[in-house]
Amino acid sequence: MATIDPTAVDQKDRGEVRYAQLHHINFITTRKDEMRDWYRTVFDMDISLDGPFGCWITNDRANHRIALTVLPHVQPDPDWRDHARLHHVAFEYASFDDLMDTYQRLRDLGIVPKACLDHGMTTSLYYTDPDGNYVELQCDNFGDWDQSKAYMRDSLPFAENPIGAFFDPDKMYEAYKNGTPHREILRQIWDSDDFRPAEFPDMGAPEPRPGDPPMPAKY
Ligand SMILES: [Fe+2]
Repeated sequence: MATIDPTAVDQKDRGEVRYAQLHHINFITTRKDEMRDWYRTVFDMDISLDGPFGCWITNDRANHRIALTVLPHVQPDPDWRDHARLHHVAFEYASFDDLMDTYQRLRDLGIVPKACLDHGMTTSLYYTDPDGNYVELQCDNFGDWDQSKAYMRDSLPFAENPIGAFFDPDKMYEAYKNGTPHREILRQIWDSDDFRPAEFPDMGAPEPRPGDPPMPAKY
């Protein structure tokens, strides 16, 4: 395992560090075709290459954004809830309108979120792909990355509850279609139980055990 000397992390004289942009995600999967079809459907991705060893797909000018690797001997992990892992990858929409439009498009295809959270800085819908990986579709609640970042750094409510407030996406979509502004919907999620989901949403955590600390989220 690669580790870093902790004294080097905040060292000021590291010299110029060249910026690297996140380019793609690669899953090792036993369900390559199902995964390909799910990501293509959700994100309107085109195939760059598909074959017995894997599939590479993209939704923009990049040669691929998702890679699906097929390897011999690989098995699904039945104990994934209890294992350290990558929890989710997030895709950002340009606006609340785009997020709600996508919610409705996917709902019509039978693809619905497992859990939905107002994180404070984002409105987030969490889906699971055919392998059970969580995939977050989000929009920024400020519509501005600088304000959003400042909120994470400076907000006392966020420090006390960095998970957020669960909401029912159908109720959110209904309010959206009735013309309720995004900011007003978010206020009501926190100030009322009008958007409360009927059941506690599944965020892929281990089954709770006696003595566990409560999740700091509004439900
Ligand atoms: Fe996230």
